[in-house]
This record gives sequence, structure tokens and C-alpha cells, in this order.
Amino acid sequence: MNVSFYDFVSLHHSEFQQKVMESFQKIVSSGQFIEGEYNTAFEKEFASYHQRKHALLVANGTDALELSLRAQGISHGDKVAVPAVTFYATAEAVYSEKAEVVLVDIDETGQMDPFSLERVLKQHPEIKSIMPVHLYGIPAPIEEFEKVIEKSGRNISIVEDGAQAFGGLYSGEKYKGKRLGSSPHLHTFSFYPTKNLGAAGDAGAILVDDEEMMLKLKALRNHGRGVEEKIFGRNSRCDHLQAAFLYHKWQEVEKFQQQRKEVAHQYQELLGGISSIQVVARNFMETSSFHLFPILTKDGKEKIALRDFLQEKKISTSLFYEHSLAHEMPLKGVKGEYAFADKFCQRVLCLPIHPFLTKEQLDYVASSLRSFYGI
Ligand SMILES: Cc1ncc(COP(=O)(O)O)c(C=O)c1O
Repeated sequence: MNVSFYDFVSLHHSEFQQKVMESFQKIVSSGQFIEGEYNTAFEKEFASYHQRKHALLVANGTDALELSLRAQGISHGDKVAVPAVTFYATAEAVYSEKAEVVLVDIDETGQMDPFSLERVLKQHPEIKSIMPVHLYGIPAPIEEFEKVIEKSGRNISIVEDGAQAFGGLYSGEKYKGKRLGSSPHLHTFSFYPTKNLGAAGDAGAILVDDEEMMLKLKALRNHGRGVEEKIFGRNSRCDHLQAAFLYHKWQEVEKFQQQRKEVAHQYQELLGGISSIQVVARNFMETSSFHLFPILTKDGKEKIALRDFLQEKKISTSLFYEHSLAHEMPLKGVKGEYAFADKFCQRVLCLPIHPFLTKEQLDYVASSLRSFYGI
């Protein structure tokens, strides 16, 4: 049996395609290619879903991070704290703004560790912003970071990298049960096609409440236009065709998100009897967006053996992420903490998860895992 990592065919079913094509025809006939009615409609609904004042569509998730840093004046001489395990783009955005990355170690759920953050902030007085990532869709403990920042007595902003967060909820007391993205911080999303809410190419978004900050971000995404005092921006607009695709996907995303969560719960049940495997999201079954389904093996050797075993059985897995950022070439020599992150990366393997996995496929994955461990 084949168990693939994604299923774009089921996701983009014919009824969906028809709606998209009708909108595309309308847009092409109108000639309104840049920032049209679908942009406005999507932004309005996306903001309201997250109980935020504004959502701004941009060209991709990396731009959403970069522009958020730039709008806050982060630049040369500043440092930004980034979790030691994340997709490379989180750190890349900091360097694009000419600032320096300082790594913060992660906890056993793969999220930025507040204790490490506290130490790192003390060692680096130049840190002006922190960029926690809701990695795998598991909620990062934002309120703990707020407490650490408050204790430091410094003016440090939080930009939440929610590229993998769509559909998840915060844990902890302060924001408990609220959607990831609804805290008062700038919060970014990526709509890369494999994300829980995926575009037909690249797109991203920023959630923001403050009116002045919103206007600045709006100007930055469109060559600095629209503010009285001219600023340098760039082109990070989201095409109208892309917004139309996203708008139609948006109408169905809750249903797919529910299916994704059901798949995750079935996994949790099926893997319960395999004591050699640790489900990273085990304490977040009600709050993770389940963008990915990471498990931890005993060590790196076992991880690779398991990956190869599953591959032979036609079960796709993914090594998100193979190394901490400290070992990504351009980041060699980066400052900060990453000892636990290195150990975590050796052991982590992501099982396939998407809304269309069947019970038979999940049983097959579980029985293959059991047979690997000789159970
Ligand atoms: C954690 C994280 N941050 C940033 C990004 C960058 O998003 P994009 O590929 O849309 O630029 C991604 C996505 O791929 C991501 O997973």
C-alpha cells in the first residue's frame, strides 16, 4: 500500500477547481490582476477568524517575517532570537534585514524554550525581537516568553512565525483555547502549497491590530506607497488570481482541518502501544494544528533505519529537521544555545499526515511500525 506525504488530488477536487476556474475567468476578463476583491474578502475573513483587526496578504511566509521585522525597525546592529530548530527561512528573514540571529534552545516538544530564552536575553542585550515558531503546528508557549521579556525589563517585540500554525490553538492560561494568531503580537503565516491552508504557489499573511503598524506594513509590501513620508518598501503583493484560489480554499479549510485532527487522534491511539516511539505532540492533541506529525526514535541510527524500512513499505516520511540551525552552512558560528536541539534533530521523524489518510492506511503505518520494532 502506498502512503504519500500529501494528497493534492483529493484536496483540489473537481468542484473546487471549477470554482477557481470561474474566478480566474472573471479576473482575466476584468484585468484586475493586482489586489482585487478576492484579496479584500480573504483579508477580512482571515482577520476576523483570528479575532484580529487586520490581515495583510503578502507574497510568501518569508516576506511576512521580513516585513514584520522591518516595520519594527529591526536592522543592522540588532539581534533577533530564533529557535534553534525551525525551517531555515525564519533565520533567513533576520539576515535579510541585516540583523543577527541568536539561537534559543528548544524544549522536548520542539518549541523555543523559555528558560533558554531567559539566559540568551541576558547574554545578548542587543536582542530587540524574538521570533518563536509554532513548529509542527504545536503551540509555542507565548505567554511564558512574554513573562521572560517582562522580567528582563527591556523593550523586546514578539513576531510569531505561524507558517505551520494554521488551525491550531494556544495552550497555557492566558490565551487558552484561542486560535494561534489571535495573541496581540505580529503573527505571520505561509500559504505554501503544502501548508494546512495552501495556495496555488506562494503566498503569506501578517496579522496585526495596531493601525499605524498596519499602514506601515501595507506600504512596505507595495514599494512604500500609501504613507505620507516616503519609505523604501518592496514588491510583496499577493496576486489577485492567487487570492481567489486562497479564498475558495478558505471556504473548505475547517472541514479539512477537522479531518486532519481526526487522523492525528487515530495515530495517537494506534501508536499508543509502541513504547519505543514518542509522539512529540502527545500533550497537544487538542491544540496542535497537526501540520506535521513528528515522532522521536531512540537515536539517530534507529531513525534512519526506520525511515528506510518505511520507505521500502512505500510509506513516505520526512526528516523535519535534520539539523539544528547551528549546523546549516551559512549559519555556522551562530551564537546562542542549541545542545538539546541537536539531540532532538537526531531523533525526529515525521510520519505522513493529511486530511485524506484512510483508516486502512493508518493501520498499515501502525502495523509497519510494530513490525519494525518486532511487536
Ligand atoms: C517555520 C517556517 N517559517 C517560514 C517559512 C517560509 O514560508 P514561505 O515558504 O512561504 O516563504 C516556512 C515555510 O515553508 C516555515 O515552515
